[in-house]
Amino acid sequence: MSEFIDSILKEHRVFFPSEEFHRSSHIKSMKEYSRIYKKSVENPEAFWAGKANHLEWFKKWDIVLRNDMGFFKWFEGGYLNVSFNCLDRIIKSGKKDKIAFIWESESGETKKYTYEQLLKEVCRFANVLKKLGAKRSHVIEIYLPMIPELPIAMLACARIGAIHSVVFAGFSSDALKDRIQDSNAELLITADGSFRNGKVFPLKDNADIALKECPTIKSVVVVKRANNKIEMQNNRDFWLHDLVSQDDIKDFCEPESMHSEDSLFILYTSGTTGKPKGILHTQAGYLLFVYQTFKWIFDIKDNDVYFCTADIGWITGHSYIVYGPLSNGATVVMYEGSPTFPKPDRFWKIVEKYNVTIFYTAPTAIRALAKEGDDWPNKTNLSSLRLLGTVGEPINPEAWMWYHNVIGKKRCPIVDTWWQTETGGILITPLPGATPLKPGSATKPFFGIIADVLREDGTKANVNEGGYLVIKNPWPGMLRTVWNNPDRYKHTYFEKFGVYLTGDSARIDEDGYFWIMGRTDDVIKVAGHRIGSAEVESALVSHKSVAEAAIVPFPHEIKGQAIYAFVTLKSGVKKSDELKEELKKHVSQSVGPIAKPDKIQFADDLPKTRSGKIMRRILKVIAEGSTEYGNIMTLADPSVVEVLAKNRVA
Ligand code: WTA
Repeated sequence: MSEFIDSILKEHRVFFPSEEFHRSSHIKSMKEYSRIYKKSVENPEAFWAGKANHLEWFKKWDIVLRNDMGFFKWFEGGYLNVSFNCLDRIIKSGKKDKIAFIWESESGETKKYTYEQLLKEVCRFANVLKKLGAKRSHVIEIYLPMIPELPIAMLACARIGAIHSVVFAGFSSDALKDRIQDSNAELLITADGSFRNGKVFPLKDNADIALKECPTIKSVVVVKRANNKIEMQNNRDFWLHDLVSQDDIKDFCEPESMHSEDSLFILYTSGTTGKPKGILHTQAGYLLFVYQTFKWIFDIKDNDVYFCTADIGWITGHSYIVYGPLSNGATVVMYEGSPTFPKPDRFWKIVEKYNVTIFYTAPTAIRALAKEGDDWPNKTNLSSLRLLGTVGEPINPEAWMWYHNVIGKKRCPIVDTWWQTETGGILITPLPGATPLKPGSATKPFFGIIADVLREDGTKANVNEGGYLVIKNPWPGMLRTVWNNPDRYKHTYFEKFGVYLTGDSARIDEDGYFWIMGRTDDVIKVAGHRIGSAEVESALVSHKSVAEAAIVPFPHEIKGQAIYAFVTLKSGVKKSDELKEELKKHVSQSVGPIAKPDKIQFADDLPKTRSGKIMRRILKVIAEGSTEYGNIMTLADPSVVEVLAKNRVA
């Protein structure tokens, strides 16, 4: 990380939007940005109310914003339906035959859905859910790969007012079980299997294991995808294709009229301590926020073809594959598989094939594909591209330059978008027709967002001084609470400074540009995926040979950060390379392959304070191969540090 910080401190290059972009974009200049920004933060309620008029309401709101003892409510008294706004409203505007989704499977199969076709599929799915007894405010768990049924299922939930909770299909049965148990879901939607790198991943088998300990789930809807052999439990498991083809399943489903603050979805994400927390988003504010951010940040035009490579199992997919693009009537490319299958040019081939104009991905993918060499992109025609985006972790200036030169051919602005599961949508970002870009900086706050960097004592940090990134005012897309745990919401996000604490560190430069430096808590971003140290550590400790474990990040060329685990074995257990492999596999099975440690070091002792707290700060320095431990004299036994450093896994 320190190399990365050094490089962004020295970064002084600036890139300006092209004349053409200036002229044709929604927000055309910094002057315009500054003018609208000033108004938007002087009176955010008026700003957002003005934008909310673009949505279609069954009943308009009574009050724009209310602070209910630290819980923020937007557009109370208003009623709408999110799926109606993403489908029926678009169709009514004359776009019934416009393509909503272009889906490509890993093996190259393609499906296209117009807005009209998508509405029909959503309605039929919604009617199936209703027939199975699903109702308003029920929680429906969705454990599906990147197939069209995933967004269709989400929109079907939104249509009937059920709350969806999507679990990334790469997660293990344990992770699925924890999420179902926490959310008390009554219905599960899954598939027989999914494809990744040509291999089948047994989703339904995983679900079956999880369901043994999830008595709340009454029915399981199974999508046939991989054609692998699975078990179907009588009266619990149903094939989607059987249900949806029944005579009484109609092509239309009346959208439920939902109150603005009714729950829309829960999405679990990792935090500092304990199990992942269920981030709750509600209807109107979330929809408005993703609608407006998508429109201006991706500068969407009617003839754009937009491709976001994220998985819908993460927030990026929720907000910028499903709700943001559809509410704007955009054409979205959705890809099922791996970026390197069968070859490392898969993304570029997709861009070429569908004439993609806007491409949104993660820095880890950019680094991985850059490493494969320029020939892959150079051999494809990328001339349709006009705008590029990145999300998920800081982008190092080298990767930014490669993206700019080799993919964007120096022509396409890059929007480096900073946000989080909790924020619902993008908060700090360039606007492509206005903002001069500095490689590695997410640039400036979006309209209506007051971002700042504070010191430990809550005072404002100086120019270029690193500190805690905070958001000082509420915005419509913000999380409303942590599911089943309002205390955790208050404690995690508002206790420290009384304003929203992001968990990131950042600095603001002399031009008011934000530079995100990384997390301040025990969250590790592995290839852009958010992993909590506590989850991986408890997975390690659940292994019979392990007494104690501590994990820290270390810099990784492709993944940005990877996991380094220090493991203390139970007495009498033999240290061996086989055991290391077994532990890696164990984590992979307990959490998911994305959480697997890259390096494991056996440690007879860990550096602890006299009160027994493990000093991860010191472990991180050791894992990085540095010797700048800072003060170690507060440790119960300072000699531990030297022993660990000597045995570091290089
Ligand atoms: C990190 C992903 C630097 C950050 C949308 C944040 C970023 C966490 C950027 C949230 C960016 C996201 N530059 N860091 N452009 N975007 N992050 O909840 O640490 O999976 O707190 O949401 O990703 O991760 P999450």
